[in-house]
Amino acid sequence: MLNSAGLSFVVLLSTVGAATTGRAEYDYYKYHPMTEITAWMNQMVKENPSVVTIADYGRSYENRTISLLKIGLKTGLKKKAVWMDCGIHAREWIAPAFCQYFVRQILQTYKTDMKMQRMLNNMDFYVTPVLNVDGYIYSWKNSTTRLWRKNRSPGAAGCSCYGTDLNRNFDANWGTVGVSDDCCSNIYCGTKASSEPETRAVTDFIRNLKDEFLCFLTIHSYGQLLLIPYGHPNIMAPNYNELMEVGLGAAEAIRRVHGKEYVVGTSPAVLYPNSGSSRDWARMQGIPFTYTFELRDNGTFGFELPQDQIQPTCEEAYSGALHIISYAHDMTFNAAAATATATFWTALLALGVTGVSLM
Ligand SMILES: *[C@@H]1O[C@H](CO)[C@@H](O)[C@H](O)[C@H]1NC(C)=O
Ligand SMILES: *[C@@H]1O[C@H](CO)[C@@H](O)[C@H](O)[C@H]1NC(C)=O
Ligand SMILES: *[C@@H]1O[C@H](CO)[C@@H](O)[C@H](O)[C@H]1NC(C)=O
Ligand SMILES: [Zn+2]
Repeated sequence: MLNSAGLSFVVLLSTVGAATTGRAEYDYYKYHPMTEITAWMNQMVKENPSVVTIADYGRSYENRTISLLKIGLKTGLKKKAVWMDCGIHAREWIAPAFCQYFVRQILQTYKTDMKMQRMLNNMDFYVTPVLNVDGYIYSWKNSTTRLWRKNRSPGAAGCSCYGTDLNRNFDANWGTVGVSDDCCSNIYCGTKASSEPETRAVTDFIRNLKDEFLCFLTIHSYGQLLLIPYGHPNIMAPNYNELMEVGLGAAEAIRRVHGKEYVVGTSPAVLYPNSGSSRDWARMQGIPFTYTFELRDNGTFGFELPQDQIQPTCEEAYSGALHIISYAHDMTFNAAAATATATFWTALLALGVTGVSLM
């Protein structure tokens, strides 16, 4: 039992702790409104100035800044890159929570985990915690707006509804399947491909660096699915088999954490056909490993996933995401290392060096 002296001692200690860090610990297992997520982004930069920078890369329809965190070790060499965005659909609150968890995990592990350190040496991670900023803020307004999905731009002339589905607005078979022309629909694809400023922010940013990106991971909920391109049923990704194989490996990595089953496949095969998704657009730009994560759950709570599931959902999704990222990394950098080694031995053999055992 605590006597009053013991109690004040505990209070004093925690006060000192807070004074040292200058703030309360960020709670990764709660949903946060946009203002707190923005403050958190700035805090990440402040605490990790040599590893994390912020890039403001666009403005929303309501003129808010769209920002990402760039995480990587400075090597002076040309690096590859990984893209992750969360919160393209406003109501999928678990997605921004995951992006934040993902960043925290990377920063917590890279000093001691040599694989993560190598990956941060070879690649930069570009993470957008909330892409659809206006929609996310709207979904926080009150209980009647909680399930808002789209952005907040006004519809075409003559329509009284707001919002375009940003994940139907990309220039990838735009407007062909799984969309609506009705601006009141939740899957309204906009007046033309890339009509929305949020879409253009992503496409302009990626186009400038598109040869660098190995992975494009876009995080949604719900359904427990890993979707590969394409959403159009008549088009097949050239690396379909590899995308499936790596996706199944990721699903297995997810299952090992808390036993949850994630289904892997193209959108038409496991969910519904669609067009204009960011994942399909990214694959069409030549980014090889493009996946949509549909996080928990499978329908019990849907978009309103209880906060006590944030931690297990993030833990398993982290494992799945790392499986994909690490595969893409090893393909690129271990293959290069293997080629360099082979060239070295070929040269030695050509010089007539023998009696050396290969290891
Ligand atoms: C958008 O915000 C920026 C920065 O606050 C400001 O300079 C600009 O004038 C704004 N644009 C509009 C159309 O309000
Ligand atoms: C909730 O917010 C919306 C959008 O601002 C508003 O139209 C509506 O009246 C609000 N509802 C309640 C119950 O406050
Ligand atoms: C959802 O998952 C739970 C266990 O995680 C399972 O009991 C339930 O049958 C699943 N529901 C659907 C619709 O798949
Ligand atoms: Zn979604």
